[in-house]
Amino acid sequence: MHILVTAGPTREFIDPVRFLSNRSTGKMGYAIAEAAIRAGHSVTLISGPSSLQPPKNLHAFCPVVSALEMLEAVENYLPSADALVMAAAVADFRPARRFDRKCHKNELGSTLELVPNPDILATIRPLKENRFFVGFAAETTDVQNSAAGKLHRKGLDLIVANDVTQPGAGFETDTNIVTLLAPNADAETLPLLSKAETAQRIIARMEAEMQKRRQNR
Ligand code: PMT
Repeated sequence: MHILVTAGPTREFIDPVRFLSNRSTGKMGYAIAEAAIRAGHSVTLISGPSSLQPPKNLHAFCPVVSALEMLEAVENYLPSADALVMAAAVADFRPARRFDRKCHKNELGSTLELVPNPDILATIRPLKENRFFVGFAAETTDVQNSAAGKLHRKGLDLIVANDVTQPGAGFETDTNIVTLLAPNADAETLPLLSKAETAQRIIARMEAEMQKRRQNR
């Protein structure tokens, strides 16, 4: 199977030295890519800025910076993919204007005008066909309900709910605590595990759901 994985943050530049971003390091997405390779899949990794070394034996590695670049890369690779795992933390907004030189404080003013970035999953939904789509949900309140809403709204086959307020979970850590939600299935909460083990469990669950789908056809 060819699996497309996105990882890391996006950066939305204000000028050449300033940007809007988030705390994602890419650890979770890179662990997914690694686990998928170990499980025998062909993997393309699309990554926002990260200091991590890409896993060995990737089919392709595609570094990107902004949400718009990530969308373009996903659209390019999707036709050859059987599954997509969106572990990236995509910035929902970007500055309305990008200066091509460093601007002075008084030029920026006290408010920054933002415009929404496209939702990548929503944009590519019409191209989904039989592909298996996995999303992540980084939440701080009402975690399972919020994730279940995203599972439904974004037309996903599986969502990994991340309570990023829990110690050892979410951004920057080497461990995670997640709950897997799929349509018409009970929630599966995994214990505190390394991101490598969490990734193996996500890939295994994805394979099981795809197998179930084949049998029901
Ligand atoms: O990188 P680490 O430091 O290891 O941290 C891991 C993580 C916390 C970043 C990761 O596990 C995680 O939760 N990633 C998703 C974070 C997030 O952006 O969640 P969201 O609830 O904003 O988005 C929901 C889903 O929609 C995600 O699959 C996201 O990739 C996708 N999305 C979001 C915004 C957007 N414009 N387009 C999208 O497709």
